[in-house]
Amino acid sequence: MDHVLTQIAAHGIETVHIRAREINPQALLQGRFDDPEIKAFSQTVAKADGVIIATPIFKAAYSGLLKAALDVLPQFGFAGKILLPLGTGGSLAHVLALDYALRPVLQSMGARHVVQAQFVLEQDIIIEDGGFTLAPGAEGALGEALRNFLHSLSDRRHAPLLGHPRPPTEAVVS
Ligand SMILES: Cc1cc2nc3c(=O)[nH]c(=O)nc-3n(C[C@H](O)[C@H](O)[C@H](O)COP(=O)(O)O)c2cc1C
Repeated sequence: MDHVLTQIAAHGIETVHIRAREINPQALLQGRFDDPEIKAFSQTVAKADGVIIATPIFKAAYSGLLKAALDVLPQFGFAGKILLPLGTGGSLAHVLALDYALRPVLQSMGARHVVQAQFVLEQDIIIEDGGFTLAPGAEGALGEALRNFLHSLSDRRHAPLLGHPRPPTEAVVS
């Protein structure tokens, strides 16, 4: 995720990285909406124009931790926002998990637009010298997904007309 956020920040966009595993696990699993960490998480998402969701694929679906995090957001917590789903996995057999499992959930939470999801094979993540690089094909595909995301993010002209329910932000349509 940091790899992706560095590329986003290079376009002058402010980014925040929320790691679901660092949110108070008891509050998360008990759905304690009044917990300070859950509130802070929810407020950070509320302020964002776009959200990139990264998850490993476990058992042919997105992670349970991600579901727990989505469950503590408001019903229409993605209203008016652009979403980019990213997944890592060991097998191309589960490349569609992002589309058949995660995408409908994001859409049901009011996303204005969920751009084409991107799946990165574990074997294309080359770990070296305490960091990592991506195989050229994977880097190229990820770059294209990010360009789609940034493009959708920049087109806010019709924002008030799209997504469900109508987003609370006051964008002007000319
Ligand atoms: C319990 C478990 C289940 C997994 N199930 C799948 C799977 O169904 N499909 C798949 O492509 N990869 C599967 N994997 C591989 C993970 O997706 C891969 O290790 C992960 O993307 C690496 O990211 P991480 O280091 O953030 O966990 C599984 C891994 C584990 C540990």
